[in-house]
Amino acid sequence: MEQAIMAAEKGTKKSHEIVSVYIMGKKYDVPSQLTIQKAMEYAGYQLIRGCGCRGGICGACATVYRFPGDYRIQVGLACQTIVKPDMHIAQIPFFPANKAIYAIEKLEATGDTLASFYPEIFKCFGCNTCTKSCPMDIDVMEYMSQAIRGDVARVAELSFDCVMCGLCSARCPAEQVQYQVSILCRRLYGRYLAPSPAHLDEAVTAVKEGRFERQLRELMTKGVNEFKKLYTDRAVEPDMAEESWKPPKREDLPSAEY
Ligand code: SF4
Ligand code: SF4
Ligand code: FES
Repeated sequence: MEQAIMAAEKGTKKSHEIVSVYIMGKKYDVPSQLTIQKAMEYAGYQLIRGCGCRGGICGACATVYRFPGDYRIQVGLACQTIVKPDMHIAQIPFFPANKAIYAIEKLEATGDTLASFYPEIFKCFGCNTCTKSCPMDIDVMEYMSQAIRGDVARVAELSFDCVMCGLCSARCPAEQVQYQVSILCRRLYGRYLAPSPAHLDEAVTAVKEGRFERQLRELMTKGVNEFKKLYTDRAVEPDMAEESWKPPKREDLPSAEY
């Protein structure tokens, strides 16, 4: 139950509400504005596993929780989910989900490739539990349907925001590894289907032809501080730059013709 306690922080005017949560079954009183991750640390846990970026990107902090009187298990990323009164919290451990090993350069971007590594995709029976479990609001069931249809590009597009937290897989009654299927599709898409950006091809060609050699040799002669200053002062492409944007100083260019 939520405690109506306002705890003044020592030496400051800041105050915050304290709520009771249950971490691995044990009760702790923690400030209400904390994420689950910070509340666990406030309670004395040292996070060695189940913690990475702390910014909702790495997917390491998959967590399940439930409230008394509610039969439903809820899920979230511990670094992104704010504690609520009476939350019963447990972080899920690593579990050995199916993971195919492959050399991407030897594959084809087809449905047969997906089926050969993950034949279990055809056992999906469309319950949508995976979608409801996803903290990134991805339509997981839909991308699994597209995987069954063999539409690699569509799976890659629909799953673009996946952080590989594994919550969809942890809850799937058909024991799918949705995030492994989808990262295979994103890899296949990047390798075989995505349009090749002309300016990148041009830059790679310039590197291969040695047109940066003079600048690289010059950089190798600089001291650390001068090197840092050069880096800080370098010409940076603006966010909304035209396709034709080039660094303004000629000496930033690899050669007159590039
Ligand atoms: S939870 Fe599993 S069985 Fe249900 S829709 Fe998702 S992939 Fe299919
Ligand atoms: S698709 Fe699955 S692994 Fe990816 S973010 Fe959603 S729940 Fe996590
Ligand atoms: S610690 Fe990386 S997503 Fe939470």
